[in-house]
Amino acid sequence: MDRIIVSGGARLVGEVQVSGSKNATLALMAAALLGEGETVLRNVPRLRDVDGMLQILAALGARAEWDAHDPNTLRILGDTVDRPEAPYDLVRRMRASFMVLGPLLARFGRGRVSEPGGCAIGVRPVDQHLKGLEALGAKIELSHGYVEASSERLHGARVAFDVCTVNGTQNVMMAACLADGETVLENAAREPEVIELAAVLTKMGARIEGAGTARVVVEGVSRLRGVEHAVSGDRIEAGTLLAAGVVTRGDVRVRGIDASVMQATIEKLRETGAEIELEQEGIRARAFDAPRGLDAVTAPYPGFATDMQSQLMAVLTVANGSSIVTETVFENRFMHVPELLRLGADISVSGRTAHVRGVPRLMGAPVMATDLRASAGLIVAALAAEGETEVNRVYHIDRGYERIEEKLRSLGARIRRVQGTGQEA
Ligand code: EPZ
Repeated sequence: MDRIIVSGGARLVGEVQVSGSKNATLALMAAALLGEGETVLRNVPRLRDVDGMLQILAALGARAEWDAHDPNTLRILGDTVDRPEAPYDLVRRMRASFMVLGPLLARFGRGRVSEPGGCAIGVRPVDQHLKGLEALGAKIELSHGYVEASSERLHGARVAFDVCTVNGTQNVMMAACLADGETVLENAAREPEVIELAAVLTKMGARIEGAGTARVVVEGVSRLRGVEHAVSGDRIEAGTLLAAGVVTRGDVRVRGIDASVMQATIEKLRETGAEIELEQEGIRARAFDAPRGLDAVTAPYPGFATDMQSQLMAVLTVANGSSIVTETVFENRFMHVPELLRLGADISVSGRTAHVRGVPRLMGAPVMATDLRASAGLIVAALAAEGETEVNRVYHIDRGYERIEEKLRSLGARIRRVQGTGQEA
């Protein structure tokens, strides 16, 4: 298995382009199933999760492939779907694939999708997805670990989500686009990825109002068409690179990101004492001293993103003073803490709250990545640590970061990947 080796202490300086958004892409790939004719997605990141969704689309019978001339362009044709079934072996590896159920149901009248099961950061049920699809008239059966859903024609309905769920909102919103009549989603997620999905669905011919607010109204139409769309920049990748700049007291510019979707992250980085400038098409972060301690609480958008929690915690491990980090979205998202302790951090956890007492320095050590964002946090900490840190199980990071070590190296980081064979990548 590949490992990433970081020799910490280098100040990061320079400019880097972020890739397209992983989470926006995954929802848009599911949405492509709804459109008659080809959908072309540009600025798509080359990630393990995207490959996972490609396998799911192929298993359904859709034609989904990378463009021959542009390595970040995907061409998807849903017209050829002939077996609307997403198998356990693929869904368990990439739970966002559960979002194909809404489009399959709405366009093809049925879908059989494996329940995703739990993951490292939490139980992550899909009850809200099913509640919404059932309200639209789907007949839902759970059998042998699969959700079997069918409907002659979905109809509009009022769906009040009990918890604010991003993929749940997206899944039901996609289904409602081809339902008969009006659907109202209450307590809908307001994430930028929900707004982007609604914008693309509208380009495809859908009628959606209120995306980005807690109340979304969808007027069903009879058919949707394939479209072309360039995926927006990844706000979590951008936040991770800025955090790397701050923890090394560097001067980093990220390009290809709309700062307006990162307000909460920018605020927190400013609270650490870093200077954050919003520029045309980008953000600049400069830090001159050790970060300041702060309190942070994760929350659904526009709150502070849970996907940025471990990276911010890594910055706070070397802060002047102490910090309180509270995780409210997922019940088990402190898996990075024991690994940060191995680097010499001083953190105690009680329930969903971590108390981080800043230390003067971290020391490199072998650590284990447990999930995508935990591994990003470990790399941010390793950049500030004295000596070498070896991050194991980096397949987690390849799920959501495109060529992370190359991007960090271009900013001056001493970082390299060692392939399972021991050869340098
Ligand atoms: C999306 O996951 C993102 N994934 C996650 O990013 C992100 O952490 C999460 O939203 C929150 O921002 C993608 O978009 C592919 P949720 P999602 O449903 O939609 C509970 C990353 O690192 N819940 O908003 O699956 C759930 O257990 C990933 O890129 C139910 O109880 O998250 C959680 O506690 C990780 N029932 C809370 O809601 C449901 O039916 C929020 O989860 C659905 C969710």
